[in-house]
Amino acid sequence: MFGEIKIAPSILSADFMNMERDIHMLEAGGTDFIHVDVMDGHFVPNLTLGVPFVKQLKRITDIPLDIHLMISNPLEQLDWYLDAGADWVSVHMETLRDDDEVRQVIDRIRKAGAHPALTLKPDYPIESLEPYIADLDMVLVMSVFPGFSGQSYIEGSEERVGEVAAMAKRLNPDLLIEVDGGISAGRTAGLVCAQGADVLVAGSGVFAQPNPEEAIGFLREAGRIGREADKAER
Ligand code: DX5
Ligand code: ZN
Repeated sequence: MFGEIKIAPSILSADFMNMERDIHMLEAGGTDFIHVDVMDGHFVPNLTLGVPFVKQLKRITDIPLDIHLMISNPLEQLDWYLDAGADWVSVHMETLRDDDEVRQVIDRIRKAGAHPALTLKPDYPIESLEPYIADLDMVLVMSVFPGFSGQSYIEGSEERVGEVAAMAKRLNPDLLIEVDGGISAGRTAGLVCAQGADVLVAGSGVFAQPNPEEAIGFLREAGRIGREADKAER
């Protein structure tokens, strides 16, 4: 929290027929991560990308892959994604039945040499993260209900970012806070960074812009300005 602002474009919004071109464009734009939205048509209504895609992506880029698992059975499939080259993995709290399952997920990701993250839908209580936050490298705060890109930011989501930041301040100051859903340079990037977001996921905020390569820099700058303005107020 309150670290350098990083950008994680969601390749769900890229041009699938020109994926390699788009990945190299993100590299040229100085992207920090590539966010991969894995949806199973069950935990969320949509069906998107899977293991073969992650494997191939890994072959064409050295940018860290940030895998967002929106699947009902993460314990069954987690190792496939780790073997495929995931660098960061976010697993939804809603898909884990008890404390033992959450611990298993964190341990397995860590043992594979990747970075463990937990995430939660906008209506899931932030307090549920508290027992695990010290063992995580990142928390992903969803600012839309997962399933589709291009949705509007849910107003007030920045307060949930602030709650995670307050918890991280006590228990894990090195934690990265990522925000996903409706993030754009116009307004929301600044709002969430003012509350402690470090990593901004953006689908439309990058790929639907006139110049997607430049959009990465605009997002970073908008986040930085939002954070500075907030600091000045405090
Ligand atoms: C939503 C996905 C997001 C989404 C982001 O379920 O997790 O990563 O694709 O798209 P935008 O930035 O357009 O909201
Ligand atoms: Zn996502």
